[in-house]
Amino acid sequence: MKKTKEENNRRYFLKKCGLSTASLLLPVAGIKAMPLLELQNKMANNAKIPVNFIYDGLAFSPQEYLEKLNEINKKKPIEPDFYGNGGVTKLIEEEFATMTGKEKAIYLPTGTMANQLAIKLLNENNTKVIVPENSHIFRDEADAAQSVHNKRLIPVGKGKRYFDLDDLKSAIDYTNNNEVFKSGLGTVVIENPVRRADGTFVPIDVIKDISKYCKENSYKMHLDGSRIHIASAFNNISLSEYASYFDTVYISLYKYLNAAGGAILCGDAKIIEQISHQIKILGGTVFQSWNNTSMALHYLEGINERWDEVVIKSEKIITALNKLNGVSITSLKNGTNIYDLTLSNEISLKKLAIFLYNEHNIWLGRANDKGIVKFTVNESLLTRDYKEIIDAWKKGIKHAMN
Ligand SMILES: Cc1ncc(COP(=O)(O)O)c(C=O)c1O
Repeated sequence: MKKTKEENNRRYFLKKCGLSTASLLLPVAGIKAMPLLELQNKMANNAKIPVNFIYDGLAFSPQEYLEKLNEINKKKPIEPDFYGNGGVTKLIEEEFATMTGKEKAIYLPTGTMANQLAIKLLNENNTKVIVPENSHIFRDEADAAQSVHNKRLIPVGKGKRYFDLDDLKSAIDYTNNNEVFKSGLGTVVIENPVRRADGTFVPIDVIKDISKYCKENSYKMHLDGSRIHIASAFNNISLSEYASYFDTVYISLYKYLNAAGGAILCGDAKIIEQISHQIKILGGTVFQSWNNTSMALHYLEGINERWDEVVIKSEKIITALNKLNGVSITSLKNGTNIYDLTLSNEISLKKLAIFLYNEHNIWLGRANDKGIVKFTVNESLLTRDYKEIIDAWKKGIKHAMN
């Protein structure tokens, strides 16, 4: 019998995800490891927006992205930028400068570039930059600071989720007392929330202590706030308060603002005004970026209110799911939107995930080697009725009993 287009799309998706061979669940190990293209090729005719317990954001398919842009454009025609100047790109820069309380903000094609240029410029002629050992800057930016910008990264806080003032002071004392050539320390970086610590946040008092000390000692401070919106949502600390402790702040446009890519860097005019030249030097000046900035600006509006709702709704959902036999969802210390999900032995995670995906377009990640699923909540929760989500899980658990 001839298969419908829907069936074919579905089979392709399942095959790519390994679900058709019943061997794998949707992966969870972090965005970079996701077969996102495959995920985005999901059922074209499925009317329901997926509720995903995997990603930072809504994980639009290309079709959904285009439809959303169309909707935004219909409301108010999108004004394009020209090599990053003007149009909607200027609007989002102004909005972020206001929200962070900084003099200026600038759009960059990637967060990696934003981080690297911030530390390069803040550091001036100093060579040393202190970074968290588990940070994106230290572990995931391909040694750009050393190989492109002639800055030496000094990792602090190995084995910890974040470093505190004592860790920072001992790292500084150590280099001062044990190195013959005393090139300067110029900048201290904090990442918040911490991606490699399951999105846990750095307590505000730790940030305050470090910031005060850095000011007293004339060290600059940069915040990798790629996901700062969720630290705000789960801590009730505004973006402007967080930003006030730092000289520069980077925020991703694709983690929680659903753009296809892009980053914003905010800071003093003295630094930000040097950035566009630096982007050009690195070959990163893009003809037009409105496709990212219009999407991000759309989702920036009302982000705090929506995340307040996500926090309340996810608490309600987690409480209800924890009442189901064999389901345990626990929060992490200083956690934001990632929880640990474990199932009792009688429940097959594989069956549950496939059922939720097939029957309800609810996406669940796979377990790590300890049997824990990193259960992530995001704005996709707001697209579905609470009762519908809980009912789907109830049916799923029943179906998945061994
Ligand atoms: C904490 C953190 N900082 C920076 C980045 C870099 O962002 P981009 O992919 O835009 O270079 C990422 C991306 O995963 C991140 O998680």
